[in-house]
Amino acid sequence: MWHISFSTFALCLLLLEIPGGNTTDYRIDALSTIDILNRTCKRCAEESTDFSYNFCRTSLDAIPTSHIVNLHGLAVIGMELALQNATNTISSIKSLLSVETLDPFALACLQDCLELYLNATVSLIDGVAAFLSEHYSVANEKVSRVMKSSTTCEGLFAEKKGEVCPLARENYNLYQLCNLALCIIHLV
Ligand SMILES: *[C@@H]1O[C@H](CO)[C@@H](O)[C@H](O)[C@H]1NC(C)=O
Ligand SMILES: *[C@@H]1O[C@H](CO)[C@@H](O)[C@H](O)[C@H]1NC(C)=O
Ligand SMILES: *[C@@H]1O[C@H](CO)[C@@H](O)[C@H](O)[C@H]1NC(C)=O
Repeated sequence: MWHISFSTFALCLLLLEIPGGNTTDYRIDALSTIDILNRTCKRCAEESTDFSYNFCRTSLDAIPTSHIVNLHGLAVIGMELALQNATNTISSIKSLLSVETLDPFALACLQDCLELYLNATVSLIDGVAAFLSEHYSVANEKVSRVMKSSTTCEGLFAEKKGEVCPLARENYNLYQLCNLALCIIHLV
């Protein structure tokens, strides 16, 4: 709970510093702000076949600030959501590693995934910083790397027949959140 309210607080701070934004950008009327989520998710879904419109809507809808920001704000929210997801996944991996009796193959995969996710959080923090300082291609590169990590983690488990990836849902969420952030970064 604390983590969530802290993130929300951090997000508010970040939103105050969004480049290119001036105060009038945030006073968009209710009609057009509902539309920015809808339109952005729709546009991204049209640009890429593995982009989920419903995932996009649900993820952004859950964040109250999504309704009062511009495109720059949405990009930051996308990266923040990915960061929060990756941070939660790190805790999940750690508890899997500590409580479960794992075969050596799954153990090795989880340890590799842990490193991938730890690196992913660093990349996402760097990505937000790059974005806020208007280094969009750097932000793009950082988020792309994180997106690739989610498929790498998934692929590790697929190397052995019959092995079920215990992080399938987490990998999917991180993939989609990065997909969302990348699409918005491109639109900015
Ligand atoms: C998105 O907007 C379109 C029209 O612009 C509307 O028909 C549709 O119901 C909206 N979808 C949601 C989920 O708000
Ligand atoms: C990850 O993000 C998705 C989409 O925002 C959300 O539904 C899910 O609950 C998050 N999972 C965790 C563990 O944070
Ligand atoms: C994580 O980052 C470190 C430092 O940049 C790098 O040496 C390492 O190979 C990365 N690990 C993975 C699994 O990508």
